[in-house]
Amino acid sequence: MKQVMLERYGTPWEVASCADIPDIGDPGPDEVVFDVLAFPINPADMGFCRGTYRLKPPLPATPGAECVGRVVSAGAGVKHVKPGDLVINLQRENWTQRRKVKGDDAIPLPPGIDLRQAAMVRINPPTAQLMLSDFVDLKGGEWVIQNVANSAVGRLLIVLAHQRGLRTVNVVRRPELADELKALGADLVLVDGDDLAARVARETGNAPIRLGVEAIGGAATGRLVDCLATDGTLVHYGSMGGEDPKVGRTNFIYRGVRLTGFMLGRFLARRSAEQIRALYADLGGQVMAGRLFAPVDTVYPIEKIKDALAHADKGGRNGKILVSPNGAL
Ligand SMILES: NC(=O)c1ccc[n+]([C@@H]2O[C@H](COP(=O)([O-])OP(=O)(O)OC[C@H]3O[C@@H](n4cnc5c(N)ncnc54)[C@H](OP(=O)(O)O)[C@@H]3O)[C@@H](O)[C@H]2O)c1
Repeated sequence: MKQVMLERYGTPWEVASCADIPDIGDPGPDEVVFDVLAFPINPADMGFCRGTYRLKPPLPATPGAECVGRVVSAGAGVKHVKPGDLVINLQRENWTQRRKVKGDDAIPLPPGIDLRQAAMVRINPPTAQLMLSDFVDLKGGEWVIQNVANSAVGRLLIVLAHQRGLRTVNVVRRPELADELKALGADLVLVDGDDLAARVARETGNAPIRLGVEAIGGAATGRLVDCLATDGTLVHYGSMGGEDPKVGRTNFIYRGVRLTGFMLGRFLARRSAEQIRALYADLGGQVMAGRLFAPVDTVYPIEKIKDALAHADKGGRNGKILVSPNGAL
């Protein structure tokens, strides 16, 4: 079987290759074996290949934070999934043709769900959902502000916030995205820049914004904090610019703004296995109904992993790069 291998950390398309490895064998009594049908290349996977992600296992290593798979066989002790079921995997190392995991790590998805969308259910939809629910108790009509609004997380957050009756200020770096994001339910789309706080105040009629979520870092974090109300909360969850957040200290001293962070694993760990399955059942159902959607730019076979990684590194894409290791897409 084929699997993506890193022999060293560095430029993703230089260090990753498609290797032939022995088959993984049958599941144990509490294990599940599934064929990987599709996986996306996320920013965190690029960081993993570069060796800049928080996890840096000994080499050789296989990347892959998420995927969708179809169960091939399940041990006698596994009751919640059976052969043929579609699953997502709570564990990593998914850039491969076949995975063997503990039964509890295989989360079932509704049959018939679109495979491209299913490949992206594990990380970004719960990230958007939990950032809206776990920090500030927002009431209908309140505003939320976010940057990287055109990212997969950003687009999902627009839809999920709109469903709750929340209004969103969406900060982007490309003005041509405004109509597309408004069609998803975005109330305001603004281009990032030095006078952001003044423009946000003007466009929202000085509305107090109690929650901001941001994934760039550097001065961009500070620009979003400047838009928040006194005692507001800024959730830093990514680092697309590669710099630590820079925030003016007066925000903390005079205005009591809270700067905190989100990592999906930490927030899932606060929930039971049943709650996690319920969360994904809800999100999977919303994907199935077409309410949650992440655009896909191009699908590659696993043998073309280097091309896929080089493409994923380019800005201005029209969605995610996916890989289909068993030719299912
Ligand atoms: N903490 C967590 O648990 C967690 C979970 C999921 C995702 N994340 C993070 O969330 C972020 C978005 O992930 P995703 O999968 O949704 O991303 P994605 O769909 O690949 O989109 C990346 C976005 O980042 C923007 N971008 C790239 N470089 C930038 C820069 N230097 N300055 C400003 N914007 C930049 C792109 O803008 P254009 O559209 O203009 O190209 C694009 O909108 C990433 O940082 C990821 O690591 C964190």
